[in-house]
Amino acid sequence: KKYTVMLPAAGSGRRMGAGFNKLFLQMAEKPILIHTLEVFEKDEHCSGMILSVKITEKQKIEKMLERFGITKVKALVEGGEERQHSVAACIRAHQSGGIVLVHDAARPFIDQNVIRKLVDVAAEHGAAIAGVQVKDTMKFAPDGIVEETVDRSKLWAIQTPQAFKYELLKEATDKAEVDGFLGTDESMIVERLGHPVRIVESTYDNVKMTTKEDLLFGEVLLKRRQ
Ligand code: CTP
Ligand code: MG
Repeated sequence: KKYTVMLPAAGSGRRMGAGFNKLFLQMAEKPILIHTLEVFEKDEHCSGMILSVKITEKQKIEKMLERFGITKVKALVEGGEERQHSVAACIRAHQSGGIVLVHDAARPFIDQNVIRKLVDVAAEHGAAIAGVQVKDTMKFAPDGIVEETVDRSKLWAIQTPQAFKYELLKEATDKAEVDGFLGTDESMIVERLGHPVRIVESTYDNVKMTTKEDLLFGEVLLKRRQ
């Protein structure tokens, strides 16, 4: 099944501490951004990509796409202050419905099979998000004092991609904007509509490149794949 992917890439990478957008950092001679885009470039079911970028980085990214042979980018739109605004800009730029995926440009290790499953489940049920079961014992401790140990088997650590029928995500985005609601992922704004969101089991590889330690893990994953 075909889908379009929205990739927010307009962050600053503050926690990485590189002094510039972490997506430009190189892993195995390619920028992190390119590693992520190559996954979708190679996926025959991906019919297009929409990126949101900082206006000051647009030219640099355009050149990068050309240099690394990324051909499926349909639009480079201006990102916003928060991630949700950057995703909203992508959604506004997409008019043609169907299934859309939202995926952090900072997650280059997403598995092809997980993408396929997400698209299938979203096509049938409207909303599907990638997640993994938590490994640690989880405790609810509002003021640093344990109130209870939470049943771990019911807890999921959520990642991207998150897949939706376009109309559903558009409605959720519009409502969030009207209400001034800011979520940390797209699922949150869809949950507010009362629409069920299904979890698709993903892999522990699918880490977001957030701090320096993640880069080390990324290098190991790339070596293993070669
Ligand atoms: N992002 C975005 N627009 C923003 C903030 C984030 O498009 N205003 C993107 C990032 O480029 C990244 C993804 O959303 O691909 C996930 O965000 P995160 O990992 O938090 O990246 P940054 O916001 O860049 O990093 P930090 O929070 O450490 O500053
Ligand atoms: Mg951020």
